[in-house]
Amino acid sequence: MSLHSRLLGTGSYLPERILDNQELSRMVDTSDEWIVARTGIHRRHLAAAGQGSVDMAYRAAREALAMAAVPASALDLIVVATTTPDQIFPSTACLVQARLGNRGAAAFDVQAVCTGFIYALATADHFIRSRAARTALVIGVETMSRIIDWTDRSTCILFGDGAGAVVLRADQEAGILSTHLHADGSFADLLQVPVGQGHLQMQGNPVFRMAVRTLGEIVQETLAANHMTARDLDWLVPHQANIRIIQATAEKLGMPMERVVTTVADHGNVSAASVPLALDHAARLGSFQRGQTLLLEAFGGGFTWGSALLRWTEE
Ligand code: UT7
Repeated sequence: MSLHSRLLGTGSYLPERILDNQELSRMVDTSDEWIVARTGIHRRHLAAAGQGSVDMAYRAAREALAMAAVPASALDLIVVATTTPDQIFPSTACLVQARLGNRGAAAFDVQAVCTGFIYALATADHFIRSRAARTALVIGVETMSRIIDWTDRSTCILFGDGAGAVVLRADQEAGILSTHLHADGSFADLLQVPVGQGHLQMQGNPVFRMAVRTLGEIVQETLAANHMTARDLDWLVPHQANIRIIQATAEKLGMPMERVVTTVADHGNVSAASVPLALDHAARLGSFQRGQTLLLEAFGGGFTWGSALLRWTEE
């Protein structure tokens, strides 16, 4: 009997403090019009002083566990995707594990920047399908505000803070149909925190062009691997970096924007947390119906990119 990962619950957390474009335009030489036209972003959430990735991840995890009706003690795997851990070590996963009161589950972080959640989800899926784990918590969390240069208008307008989480359990019914991961480290210098510096640097335009091209390719790779066409997809749940990148991918798939989950206007780019935040947002609105097919995709620093095809199994 082959086993699959079934998605039992989702959760998310956004910090209270909202920074809108008007306030940003008083901090750097930019405008609400420019930001909305070039990115689709209106506002983003920022962690409070003293609040970090462990705190946000814990809150998202609690929501996901509650929806799944799974006690933290039942988890045997915790994977956290983050580029912005509070501490170099212990891992965010271990610190969240302690807050949740779980003891003994395998717990570790993965680092694939904006593609981190897809990497973490794929990792957990492989653990479950190979019977190395039965019940997994997968979290994407970022405190991007800590690594942003708040004087650099080309990057500080883009990012926000938050967390999203899912609970997976081994089941005969899928769940996760397939995952696809890629990277090309030769592009490292286009999007990075340089050695000895604490701030993110990006050459936005080449990153934008690569993202559009690569995401177009990975959605086709995912469909081909599952012998599907774009018509078989019910929902696109993309990484939320820029509405123009999302629209370009949807257009290549011939998907109307009503079938695309977009949270970029309110969240900005929350890196590894963007996809699970979007997933939880739409799940709690009741957007997904049992049996529907969801394509999750992301592109980010590294470069890294990846996708996951899901069947929604909950009522
Ligand atoms: O999360 C994964 C990876 N990240 C991404 O996928 C982000 C990818 N990149 C982007 O989303 C876009 O490239 C940006 C939104 C960052 C920039 O948009 P763009 O259409 O690529 O603009 P650009 O970088 O070509 O810049 C156009 C102009 C420049 O002025 P000049 O040189 O044409 O005079 C910039 O200086 O816009 C200027 N500019 C700004 N103006 C007002 C750059 N940032 C700002 C700003 N406000 N905040």
